[in-house]
Amino acid sequence: MERERFTPGSGRLDPRAALCSDAPALDLNGTWRFRLSPTAGVSPAFAEPGYDDSAWHDLPVPSHWPLHGHGAPAYTNVSYPFPLDPPRVPDDNPTGDYRRGFDLPHDWSGGRLRFEGVDSCAKVWLNGHELGFSTGSRLPVEFDAGPYLVPGRNVLAVRVHQWSAASYLEDQDMWWLPGIFRDVTLTRSAADVFVHASWTGGRGTLSFDGSGRLSVPELGVADLPAGTEITLDVEPWTAETPRLYDAVVTLPDESVRLRVGFRTVSIEDGVLLANGRPLLLKGVNRHEFHPEHGRAVPYETMREDVLLMKRHNVNAVRTSHYPPHPAFLDLCDELGLWVIDECDLETHGFGQVGWRGNPADDPRWAEACLDRMRRMVERDKNHPSVIMWSLGNEAGVGRNLAAMAAWTRQRDPSRPIHYEGDPSCADTDVYSRMYATHAEVEAIGRGAEEPLADPALDARRRAMPFLQCEYAHAMGNGPGGLAEYQELFERHPRLAGGFVWEWIDHGLAHPVLEYAYGGDYGEPLHDSNFVVDGLVLPDRTPSPGLLDLKKVFEPVRFEFTGDAVRIVNRYGFRDLSSLAFLGVVEVDGVPVSEFTLDVPATGGRVVLPGVPGVPGVPGADGSDDSGDGDGDGDGDGDGGDGERWLTVRAVLAADEPWAGAGHEVAWSQSRLSPPAPAPTPGGATGPANPVPTPAPAVAGSANPVSDVAASGPGNPVPASVAGAGGPGVGAGEVVVGGGHFDPATGRLVRLFGIEVEGPRLELWRAPIDNDRYGGLVRTWRRLGLHRLTHRVDSVETGDGLVVRTRVAPAATDLGLRVAYRWTEENDGLGLTVDLVPEGEWAEPVPRIGVVMALPASFERVTWFGRGPGEAYPDTGLATRVGRWSATVEELQTPYVYPQENGHRADVRWAELTGSGRGLRVTGDPVFGLTARRWTTADLERARHRPDLAPGGRVHVNLDLAQQGVGTASCGPGPLPWYDLRPAETTFRLRFKPV
Ligand code: GAL
Repeated sequence: MERERFTPGSGRLDPRAALCSDAPALDLNGTWRFRLSPTAGVSPAFAEPGYDDSAWHDLPVPSHWPLHGHGAPAYTNVSYPFPLDPPRVPDDNPTGDYRRGFDLPHDWSGGRLRFEGVDSCAKVWLNGHELGFSTGSRLPVEFDAGPYLVPGRNVLAVRVHQWSAASYLEDQDMWWLPGIFRDVTLTRSAADVFVHASWTGGRGTLSFDGSGRLSVPELGVADLPAGTEITLDVEPWTAETPRLYDAVVTLPDESVRLRVGFRTVSIEDGVLLANGRPLLLKGVNRHEFHPEHGRAVPYETMREDVLLMKRHNVNAVRTSHYPPHPAFLDLCDELGLWVIDECDLETHGFGQVGWRGNPADDPRWAEACLDRMRRMVERDKNHPSVIMWSLGNEAGVGRNLAAMAAWTRQRDPSRPIHYEGDPSCADTDVYSRMYATHAEVEAIGRGAEEPLADPALDARRRAMPFLQCEYAHAMGNGPGGLAEYQELFERHPRLAGGFVWEWIDHGLAHPVLEYAYGGDYGEPLHDSNFVVDGLVLPDRTPSPGLLDLKKVFEPVRFEFTGDAVRIVNRYGFRDLSSLAFLGVVEVDGVPVSEFTLDVPATGGRVVLPGVPGVPGVPGADGSDDSGDGDGDGDGDGDGGDGERWLTVRAVLAADEPWAGAGHEVAWSQSRLSPPAPAPTPGGATGPANPVPTPAPAVAGSANPVSDVAASGPGNPVPASVAGAGGPGVGAGEVVVGGGHFDPATGRLVRLFGIEVEGPRLELWRAPIDNDRYGGLVRTWRRLGLHRLTHRVDSVETGDGLVVRTRVAPAATDLGLRVAYRWTEENDGLGLTVDLVPEGEWAEPVPRIGVVMALPASFERVTWFGRGPGEAYPDTGLATRVGRWSATVEELQTPYVYPQENGHRADVRWAELTGSGRGLRVTGDPVFGLTARRWTTADLERARHRPDLAPGGRVHVNLDLAQQGVGTASCGPGPLPWYDLRPAETTFRLRFKPV
């Protein structure tokens, strides 16, 4: 049986380029007849043209049958879902039989049946004659249909098995989804051309292999014969300037159209270059995925991916872990993305048996491995966007990889070869790693990596450029650490950047669960939600992680210096002339002046009209221009000094093919007044963070609070305690500044007439994927941080109310002395929380904050702080200081797997309002805010979003600090300075009614 043989196919034609030909072609996509059998041994009689398929089903082609009610999808990451016994596969082998009739036009003769992708193998019959067999799910195959085509009606039959020997070569981390999932055509095109278009020394050279004559009318090139090289004055192709020239190759029987881009990729002195200039890859890993269609991705969705990438400053894609649909590469050529085209080869599951029998090193698989490489290179060789060939992913080491590389070098010396799985880099031209820590990347950047045992290989690798083919695992909430990676990539010329893992969450649309992940289809072996780890949600809504990535990848930098800003061009291949620069000054989030900046195309220093002392800006002289009439300029009418911020934005000056005029490309903020305190040494700063530094209140934590006046521990409690008589006591309650307390427990019962619960100290958060997979949650549970006990030690009245408590988990001597000091303030209630840890707190904790519950009617939140999106100590680079408003629902980030989310950072004040009532919370200086219709415990218990049902309260977390997010679900945890370690600290809040 072919399906259990090492050979990749039979009866196939030689692979050739994907070309746009004027030769006649029949589109054979559409509705086919389909039958699913549970095993492979069903009679092949269905291939006969006269077979009665009336009892079969209709199935669209392209598609995956499990997504159309036949069988079910299954997800594993590394593990093969069958025993490792190549080339044998299980008897339980879902087998799809397909039939389709088509009518041949009158004058038709000859042709090729072309399948762009069939998972995992296809045996093809035309009018009852077997044409051949093929494997290589994400690769095209052609069969000669000519001898068996008949005038009029023809019948095509295809048998597809879910499992074949080839499945051992396709162990990528994704859903197992069989079927004819890419296009099927009958084409009379037979042409193959290989266009060589390079750009060196300011000029282009052009030639091609194949037959026929090449013309490029725009360049005056006409009838160029194969093998002749000409030099031309052309504009180069880059991802930033994707200049394409229409070309035609005229052959006796057909003409093929191509779009030629002139560009040269090279490596010099260990630096990756494009057109002679350093190339910094700001990339993402893209699987083909659609929540309803799996890897049968509609064209519009491919286009949406490219547009979304471009709009988020992404400039590169690794086609993890197989060649994409050919149209995707056309889009990359046209709209501009650098591409690493990866071969459809992964044998990761052999790693689980010590790589015994790894196909990448077994000569019996040599032909199959080489076949895959050839079919990719031949198909995609004419794309200017493809700048590297990748041998595959996680296939260990072995001679078959060497053979693939050797063939590719000879066939296409113009593109470097990538493969991450062999640390010796014996077969590659670049040094690639995945999930290396910042420290390792930094060492590699300096050329100071650990040596290889073999000195020759070591010297070779040391001379290579480095890239991270995967980093910053974007699973759930996160990834943290992006800015620090980018800083390294930009500092060291050897570092060519990298590709974030990964573009999209592979959550499959589900009628009950919203989105399904591993295990939701009853798979006996699965890897749960590890398949949901993208920068966009399954419906392609950008996650906060993508917004952060956009910030980190900005092609423009702003450096504020007094009354000027230095604007730095970080494009690799273009100047700033396509951008317009806009400025706005806001006081407490309310705009007071707007202006444009005249920025030279090369960038440089530009004087700002909006900083103090600079004439022409209202309020720059210190006058109150907020319009609220209270003289403080903060626009809220409550007195105090306003915060004056300048925001400068770079936007597209005119429409580009990937975004309209006005699209924001880059931005930055600078606080004009009052002056921000000096950053604390050792503080972590992302380029986008408005001067973040470790929170002074919590040892070692890096909550970015220092863009406001820090209070810190030991700040004296303001002497604004209620009148001489101290707290009032009435009706069995203690009353302080609008707060009613239970005298026995010190519990706040009502606040300005609102029924409340809390505030009460908590250390827990609903674990994020990085907490869970990285193992921190185990530590936290062992410590009992999710089940703190609260003991009231004393309730003291005097100047206000002091409630002294001890907060501690059972079964340990660790604890926290927590004193809540309530004082009356001018028009409200002040709360100071003093925290003194007891015992050895050796581990970071999830968060430190207080929890309150308000009536469900408090549905809207308006705040002044960072927004509009969520932010954690090492994320939220995309957030900016301003005045924001959202409903409680809108504050939630709908991660497919429920987890901590939605934290708004550096909140100066927030108003929670609804049904004509409101509560204002003010920080001193700031706090972190989350508001949800469920508790942290509910959030933690939920496995899918529909598990989260709104309850009768709005649960509000007012946080002093959060633990960093990191990327420990696959890769390093938070950088040490984002660890949250309890220390003696004071946390102040003020409440007032609104
Ligand atoms: C890498 C692998 C990816 C994916 C990722 C984790 O090892 O190449 O395919 O599995 O880890 O999400």
